[in-house]
Amino acid sequence: MKWWQKTIAYEIYPRSFYDTQGKGTGTLQGIIEKLPYLQSLHIGALWITPVFRSPMIDNGYDVADYTDIDPMFGEMKDMDQLIQEGKKYDIRIVLDLVFNHTSDQCPWFLESKKDRTNQYSDWYIWKDPKPDGSAPTNWRSIFGGSAWTYCKERNQYYLHTFAVQQPDLNWADAQVRKALADVANFWLDKGAGGFRMDAVTYIKKPEVFADGPVDANDGMSAIHPLTANQPGILDYLHEFKDRTVKGKDVFTVGEANGVETDELPQWVGKDGVFDMIFSFDHVHVPLGKAEEWCYAPEWKLSELKQALNNIEKSTGEGWCPVFFENHDSPRSVNNFFTCEGSYADKAKALGTVLLTMRGTPFMYQGEEIGMHNTAWDIHEYNDVSSYAQYQFALKEGFNEEEALAAVHRFSRDNARTPMQWNSEVNAGFTSGKPWLKVSEDYQKINVEAEETDNGSVLSWYRKLASIRQQHEELISGSYEEIMAEDEQIFAYYRKDKTHTALVLVNLSSQPADFDPALTQGFSVLVQCQKNQTGKLAPFGVLLLEKTNR
Ligand code: GLC
Repeated sequence: MKWWQKTIAYEIYPRSFYDTQGKGTGTLQGIIEKLPYLQSLHIGALWITPVFRSPMIDNGYDVADYTDIDPMFGEMKDMDQLIQEGKKYDIRIVLDLVFNHTSDQCPWFLESKKDRTNQYSDWYIWKDPKPDGSAPTNWRSIFGGSAWTYCKERNQYYLHTFAVQQPDLNWADAQVRKALADVANFWLDKGAGGFRMDAVTYIKKPEVFADGPVDANDGMSAIHPLTANQPGILDYLHEFKDRTVKGKDVFTVGEANGVETDELPQWVGKDGVFDMIFSFDHVHVPLGKAEEWCYAPEWKLSELKQALNNIEKSTGEGWCPVFFENHDSPRSVNNFFTCEGSYADKAKALGTVLLTMRGTPFMYQGEEIGMHNTAWDIHEYNDVSSYAQYQFALKEGFNEEEALAAVHRFSRDNARTPMQWNSEVNAGFTSGKPWLKVSEDYQKINVEAEETDNGSVLSWYRKLASIRQQHEELISGSYEEIMAEDEQIFAYYRKDKTHTALVLVNLSSQPADFDPALTQGFSVLVQCQKNQTGKLAPFGVLLLEKTNR
């Protein structure tokens, strides 16, 4: 097995992690200071969201210079130091390559927009207006509003799958593909441990640019179903792999919204284009599809389990990440539970699944202490997409209160509030004014308080992480689900040659029965809540193991 299959990964949203300068935004030095903390969670890979030079319209996902560090986070020497210090803790640094688009302030785009004949003129997706002067197609960008913006210098529109300030690169141009591979190699030479490939399913554009069916009151058509995962995309990605990571002891994980589970074998595994991809089917069960974000669906636990199982099954010989949170989704204790019960109990139950399923667990900062959603006035949000979505909801006929309720439920800022380190001012995140409000209950939910509490979410995560690292079957063992129809319990075996683990997790606020015969011959590795024979307490967890005969 490779190192990245055996380890646990942790995602950092650096702006909100730890500020060492008192400026209200996190720094690379802040990450360096917290390496011992990360080691205590058995982390071996740190995915850091973009820290490259950026105007920060989308908090770094609008890159102006891929080979420079934004002064907000520090300097190149801080990144070099982070990579080197990380090695001392056996933690490798995984960078986030935003290669579908750049910032509109990237020199490539500034040149490209000047006229139709310069060296960079084909580096972006430029199209003529429709005969009436309007946008080339009726596509709605993922952040809302038209996906096209007019540029008078060229009398053309450019495509942006995301915000106006994030023009899409033209991967059909060989120079673009070469330039991007050069960027990846620049970071590999510096010792990066791998890459997360942002929004990668959008890099190949359709052969024909045509209007889609109008699907909302704004008269537009969601871009995602029309442009994601187009035929030919794998050719670009194979080329990228061959030029960069192939044969190196690093890993790649693609953000692959739009790849169906039956296509996973082409994407991951020996002959795939990445080592792993993030599939979102399970996150979409409670969230709904991204385009219908303000309509939360009704859902059942069996659907969530099925989504997770499908991902698991369809990777075949390949490998997948296991995750419930990232910087784009609401906090998991809110997203996956609408029932009563404490955040801590919910976080421990979900954390158990995270750390015992087959695949590399990706924790997201704050998940390990049970951080949860916030609910603010609209002007207190920072996220570019939350504003666009609020406007979209109003256009769809929701009133202000309803539109705000949807923002509370879905906003990406839910996951971006500053990390809660202690009970001091600003949760110990900064001595300055935090760029985004600190969540109100940091006095109770914070690393320092939870470190000294045996029953805390953090202690549970540490316990489970260490059990995982000590019990080989939880890493390399096969995965077999049982009780698939059960609407309260998630249960499965993890089995290798010598041992079988049995995981039983009650993901509901009511006691849940199981057949006591299931546990015969097993001994308990760890449990949480007051379970009885054949009955799990609300959010109860039972993790058992036996030696195979
Ligand atoms: C990805 C990122 C998200 C970003 C978007 C545009 O989905 O995870 O945060 O806004 O791409 O780069």
